[in-house]
Amino acid sequence: MSGRTPLVAANWKMHKVRAEARDYCTELRRRIEGVRGAEVVLFPGFTLLGTVAEALAGSSIAWGGQDLHPVPQGAHTGDVSGAQLADVGCSWVLCGHSERRQDHGESDELIGAKAAAARHSGIKPMVCIGETEEQRSSGRTFEVLDRQLAAALGAEPRPGAIAYEPVWAIGTGKTATPELAQEVHAFLRRRLEKALGSAGTALRLLYGGSVKPANAAELFAQPDIDGFLVGGAGLDPGQFFDIIGSSCA
Ligand code: 13P
Repeated sequence: MSGRTPLVAANWKMHKVRAEARDYCTELRRRIEGVRGAEVVLFPGFTLLGTVAEALAGSSIAWGGQDLHPVPQGAHTGDVSGAQLADVGCSWVLCGHSERRQDHGESDELIGAKAAAARHSGIKPMVCIGETEEQRSSGRTFEVLDRQLAAALGAEPRPGAIAYEPVWAIGTGKTATPELAQEVHAFLRRRLEKALGSAGTALRLLYGGSVKPANAAELFAQPDIDGFLVGGAGLDPGQFFDIIGSSCA
């Protein structure tokens, strides 16, 4: 037993409208009542946050934004600040998802600044890291992860959680094997402990990339996997609930 409370999150990406979000939350709330042993977070799109906040008020389920701007306010059309996320009840925010690194050219440095900005707004950043297929096949996985992790930790205070999401496993159905995921998580754990001491032992390391009800239990059985960041399967409350069920300590 690691002593770390499992953390299971659904990243809805650019899916759902308000009515769908409301139905999902009602259904997940109904199922999750009485379930203990895992912390659960939803990451809906910005326009859905108000609806999700209303639908989940008073429940044990938390919610968060999928991104934030590194400065607290100002002339940044189309962006959202940490204060705005906090205002709608977000306790978490994703930073550095590979789709943002890819689609918006986000650098490690910018992601570190976003993580720090989140902390200053009282929100826990979940920093996403992961290698591409090309980086893995050319033997650069650990070098890339080391750099991404250092940038995430460079910004004080430290992140709320780290999500390892190998880019080649996202939305492809190609899940990392439990052994491969554990190898990376053990490497990250050693790095975290070296940088942060006992706080590095306590920080939760999530796995993401084609997690489904069918593979969650064997991944969760690995000693350094503390939960999941789920994409596709997290869009369905039933499948997401089954993954949560496989992740209760
Ligand atoms: P999938 O679960 O659809 O592979 O997506 C993972 C992900 O990117 C979660 O942030």
